[in-house]
Amino acid sequence: MYRDPVPSLEARGLLPAATRALRVGMIGIGTVGGGTFRVLARNQRHIAARAGRGIEIVAVAARDLARAARIVGAAVPVTADPFEVAAHPEVDVVVEAAGGTGPARDWVLAAIAHGKRVVTANKALLAVHGEEIFAAARARGVAVAYEGAVAVSIPIVKALREGLVANRVEWLAGIINGTSNFILSKMRDEGMGFADALREAQALGYAEADPAFDVQGIDAAHKLTLLAANAFGMPLRFADVQVEGIDGLEAADVRGAEQLGFRVKLLGVARRTPEGVELRVQPTLLPATHLLAQVNGSMNGVMVKGDAAGVTMYYGAGAGAEQTASAVIADLVDLARLEGVPPAQQVPHLGVHPHATEALPVLPRAAAPGVRWLRVPLVAGQRLDALQAALAGHGVSLQRVVWADHTPAAAPEALCLTGLLVQATLDDALRALATHPAVRGPVKALPVETLDA
Ligand code: HSE
Repeated sequence: MYRDPVPSLEARGLLPAATRALRVGMIGIGTVGGGTFRVLARNQRHIAARAGRGIEIVAVAARDLARAARIVGAAVPVTADPFEVAAHPEVDVVVEAAGGTGPARDWVLAAIAHGKRVVTANKALLAVHGEEIFAAARARGVAVAYEGAVAVSIPIVKALREGLVANRVEWLAGIINGTSNFILSKMRDEGMGFADALREAQALGYAEADPAFDVQGIDAAHKLTLLAANAFGMPLRFADVQVEGIDGLEAADVRGAEQLGFRVKLLGVARRTPEGVELRVQPTLLPATHLLAQVNGSMNGVMVKGDAAGVTMYYGAGAGAEQTASAVIADLVDLARLEGVPPAQQVPHLGVHPHATEALPVLPRAAAPGVRWLRVPLVAGQRLDALQAALAGHGVSLQRVVWADHTPAAAPEALCLTGLLVQATLDDALRALATHPAVRGPVKALPVETLDA
């Protein structure tokens, strides 16, 4: 039998870094970290076959050491100090899976300063501190990957940065908070109360540590910030996103939307307009037959309109341990494959090379264009044409106005669909209605989107 007279590189201990296992340090081993550990262990061979090398967890930082040791076993050292993992000489990549924005920022910056590549699913961290983190990573020549930060299981960051790279994106719209979508679906389909549905979402591990982030639209705004930057080549502009959550919704809103043929979804919208980029997260009415209106439970859906590809849509689990792990590990495999590739030849952190980033203005709330749905409580005995005339007096035309079903005769409500207007016109009309003698209480106004349908 032929024998190569020269011992292999592997035998001589000279295996290049790119072919030995990628060594991972985990900060946090809760929902996301635990899921990542499980999937890496279960699919080890399959993942190595794709990465061209193994991926091994070699260090873990966790608050609860005993719990962490139960998850990762005795072979993996566990520490209470995340900075130890960030500086660990045997760690190639730090996975930040602890969440939050304060300490997580310091750990990630420390890891970068030590030349580590970073993977995180922490959308809050990146929406708020992303510019600083990416600048530090560029200066150090390391990658920061974050596929799991947006719509967990859906490779939407990859789709925007790579698959759709030829396109000038015109708009994107997404149901990007699994918890809110789960709650809205439970309320609509099972008549469950808001608090019960939220408790169930928490028990299933969908909700953020502070569920106010989910139900107030903040989590979706974090994700929209990342999507918009990647779609439009603009900086991260979280503070400029117009945010409204589902916590102000009433059953009458959901019913009233349905009566006119719509479903209410917490929708994130980023759209180019000649005056600037519209960036908003709001409970929004979608035609009941629209594809995004079919995204139910904790599922997410994102639609992107590119000038060349047209409309594309992405659907998948929007929350969950292994669903997030799927994206975290995809990032690890990318990094395993990219070892040794110069940073300038890698995909830029936000899809566009920094010198080409465009500081596009964000459209102010008052200038947001669109159609609105209104639910107007009227004094008994009033007529719909009087309401129509009152709104017309303030520049708001109506394409439709009907009485809401299921409201008592003594407390009637009108449901309206406006013509196209800007928010400032509607605000002016709503101020006038607030003191109008025919109007019985606060008017609810929600945007309507048809998304080129
Ligand atoms: N709390 C988030 C959600 C988890 O419900 O979508 C995934 O980012």
